[in-house]
Amino acid sequence: MNLLEEQVAVITGAGSGIGRQTAKTFAENGAAVVVADVDVDGGRATVESIAGAGGEATFVEADVSDPEDAEAMIETAVDEYGGLDVLYNNAAIEGPVARLDEYENDAFEQIIEVNLKGVWYGMKYGIRAMLEDGGGSIVSASSIGGEVAVPQYSGYGAAKAAVSHLTKYAAIEYAEDGIRANAVAPGIVRTEMIERSIEEHPEMEEQFLNTEPMPGLADPEEIANAVLFLGSDLSSRVTGVTLPVEGGYLAQ
Ligand SMILES: NC(=O)c1ccc[n+]([C@@H]2O[C@H](COP(=O)([O-])OP(=O)(O)OC[C@H]3O[C@@H](n4cnc5c(N)ncnc54)[C@H](O)[C@@H]3O)[C@@H](O)[C@H]2O)c1
Repeated sequence: MNLLEEQVAVITGAGSGIGRQTAKTFAENGAAVVVADVDVDGGRATVESIAGAGGEATFVEADVSDPEDAEAMIETAVDEYGGLDVLYNNAAIEGPVARLDEYENDAFEQIIEVNLKGVWYGMKYGIRAMLEDGGGSIVSASSIGGEVAVPQYSGYGAAKAAVSHLTKYAAIEYAEDGIRANAVAPGIVRTEMIERSIEEHPEMEEQFLNTEPMPGLADPEEIANAVLFLGSDLSSRVTGVTLPVEGGYLAQ
C-alpha cells in the first residue's frame, strides 16, 4: 500500500517501540519520515532500518519537552522534505509506579513536561507548518490510562487524559484549515517501555498479560496500523477522537 505517497511525516520517540514501528510502516507506505528522539543510537538505527528497506528517513536529535528542539524538529521536515503532512506525537516516558502520596514531585513534573507539554509543543509548531502547507494530520499517543484510572500511574494517566483533551482543541480550532487531530489509546504493547516495567516490577507481567480481554499483549505493528489509518486519508472525516487499540479493555 502507498497510503502516504509523497507525504512528509515527523514521528517523535521513533528510536524505539511503537514509534520505530510506525516510522517503518509510514516509510513502507511512501512517506519521507523525520525520526525524532533523545536517543541518538535508537533514532539512527530506525533510519538505517528504513533506508535498508529502500525507504526515506532522516534523524533529528530532539527533546520534545524543549520548545526549541520541537520547533527545530518540525523545521527539519520543512527544510529537508519541503513541508509537513503527518505528525505523530509518540514520545513519552512511563514515570514511576507509585500511589499518589508516594509519587515524587520531580517525577510528576517530569512526566508532565515530556508527556503533555511535549505533545503541546509538537502540535503548536506542527500546526504552524501545516498551515503553510495546506493542512495535515496530527496523531498523538494517549493510553488506556488516559481513559480510566490505572492504579499507581497517576502522573502518566493525567498527562494522557490531557493529551486526548488537547486533541479535541486542535481538531476544532483547525478543522476549517484542513488539519485533523486524533489520538490513539493503546492497551499493553510489547515494547521496551513494558519490558522495563516488568524488569523493575516482575509481578506486573502476570497483570499485564491479563489486562485485555483478547489474549496476550499487542504487537507494536497493531498500533502502527491504527496510526497509519488516522494519519492517512483513510480517516479523512475523522477528527477529535481517541481511538482505543486495546483488545477490548475499555468495553468491559
Ligand atoms: N507500550 C505500551 O504498552 C503503551 C501503552 C499505552 C500507550 N503507550 C504510549 O505509546 C508511546 C510509545 O511507547 P513505547 O512503548 O513505544 O515506548 P518506548 O519507551 O519503547 O519508546 C519511547 C521512545 O520515546 C523516546 N523519548 C522519551 N522521552 C523523550 C523526549 N523527551 N524527547 C524525545 N524522545 C523521547 C525514548 O527515547 C524512546 O525511544 C508512548 O506515548 C506511550 O506512552 C505505550
